[in-house]
Amino acid sequence: MASFPLPLQQPRGFGQTQRQDRWWLQPLAVFVGLTLFVVYATWAALQGEHYTHGPYLSPFYSPELWGNSEHAWFGPPPSWWPAWLPYSPAILILWAPAGFRLTCYYYRGAYYKAFWADPPNCAVGEPRQGYIGENGWPLRIMNIHRYFLYIAILFIGILTYDAIMAYRFEDGLGIGVGSLVLTINVVLLAGYTFGCHSLRHLVGGRRDSLHRGAVCSGIYRGCSALNRRHMLWAWLSLFSVLFADVYVRLCSMGIWRDWRLL
Ligand code: FES
Repeated sequence: MASFPLPLQQPRGFGQTQRQDRWWLQPLAVFVGLTLFVVYATWAALQGEHYTHGPYLSPFYSPELWGNSEHAWFGPPPSWWPAWLPYSPAILILWAPAGFRLTCYYYRGAYYKAFWADPPNCAVGEPRQGYIGENGWPLRIMNIHRYFLYIAILFIGILTYDAIMAYRFEDGLGIGVGSLVLTINVVLLAGYTFGCHSLRHLVGGRRDSLHRGAVCSGIYRGCSALNRRHMLWAWLSLFSVLFADVYVRLCSMGIWRDWRLL
């Protein structure tokens, strides 16, 4: 871990710091990583095709509420959808995982630094003198994170179902590379979701004291273990969800072949 001397007083000017390390590297990497993800995810979500292949369903499109594939819960695209707006099943659901990540405590710290340099990094001068944190609007909306958590847990259940169904091929049970891709993806997403700071508070915090019950304290310890590597889970799951979509898409387009292992 890089070490740097703690400043005796807060640096005054924007970008000023006593840090000797390459403090700009981390926010730059976050900027590049998140930008690439958002650009790809937006493009993929608007395609409305090549999101299934055999028993596989891209996580960007799950649950497919209305759509043209056999994975659709309620049948073909809804008649009430405005004709002027191109339909894609992903549009109906992606707000939930996007909101969950956007309001995540880790990502907030990361993209506040990377995208609006406030501050550019720890112990580096901010673009303004006063600190208002997230006490004012619009950032106060970030408190909504705990509600996105409830939906995210629901999504873990749905994606787990998708991963199980990814072993059911037309000719019976089997294992394809795609089955493993979707399974690893949901494991990583679960590691990210169940290490959420809000969930840790939910299961471990009660009137400012920890639950004494064995079940609750066990869940709390598990949640805390995941929480210690929350940043790592956040990035691994972000890349895995992207790769799962790429995998299903390229197989569906006939560019990649899905190898059957069993
Ligand atoms: Fe990151 Fe809740 S704090 S998912």
